Amino acid sequence: MVALEERVFDSDLVSRAQYRRHLDSSSAVVLVATATGHLFGSALLFFRSNARVARLYSLATAPEARGRGVGAALLGAAERIARGRRCHALRLEVRAANAAAQRLYERHGYRRHGHRQGFYEDGADALLYAKSLR
Ligand SMILES: CC(C)(COP(=O)(O)OP(=O)(O)OC[C@H]1O[C@@H](n2cnc3c(N)ncnc32)[C@H](O)[C@@H]1OP(=O)(O)O)[C@@H](O)C(=O)NCCC(=O)NCCS
Repeated sequence: MVALEERVFDSDLVSRAQYRRHLDSSSAVVLVATATGHLFGSALLFFRSNARVARLYSLATAPEARGRGVGAALLGAAERIARGRRCHALRLEVRAANAAAQRLYERHGYRRHGHRQGFYEDGADALLYAKSLR
């Protein structure tokens, strides 16, 4: 997962220590897409006690596996898990310049509801998206 993060993201990477903590935590779910022993994608989902809105913190598909539905499958799995935890919405942030990911989210019913300046470690802006799971 750390190797995939390093291939896919230039900033705001989830470290090995953070992954270890998330794997042990009841407030995080780590999703992976694997085939033939290879990791092709991952997603990280956060929950807060007493909050009915889950947060999709990260979604990544290995470059060689893109365009084959891995991202859509991880997104669908994240929504099912959030519903299973009685969440009524899933929210996420995406880089303002990341048109491919914005398209994926919009096609799957996410609506843009805000903009956060300088949200990322490298100073890039984020667009805020959410989807009702009801
Ligand atoms: C955004 C991302 C997760 C999408 O993953 P994916 O596995 O390619 O997603 P899907 O295959 O489900 O959907 C990609 C769409 O692009 C199209 N596509 C076709 N060829 C493609 C290619 N070579 N690369 C990317 N997308 C392609 C797909 O057909 C699909 O469109 P459709 O649903 O209209 O058919 C992936 O591009 C990625 O990891 N990007 C870098 C990290 C990132 O931006 N993460 C999200 C922000 S946190």
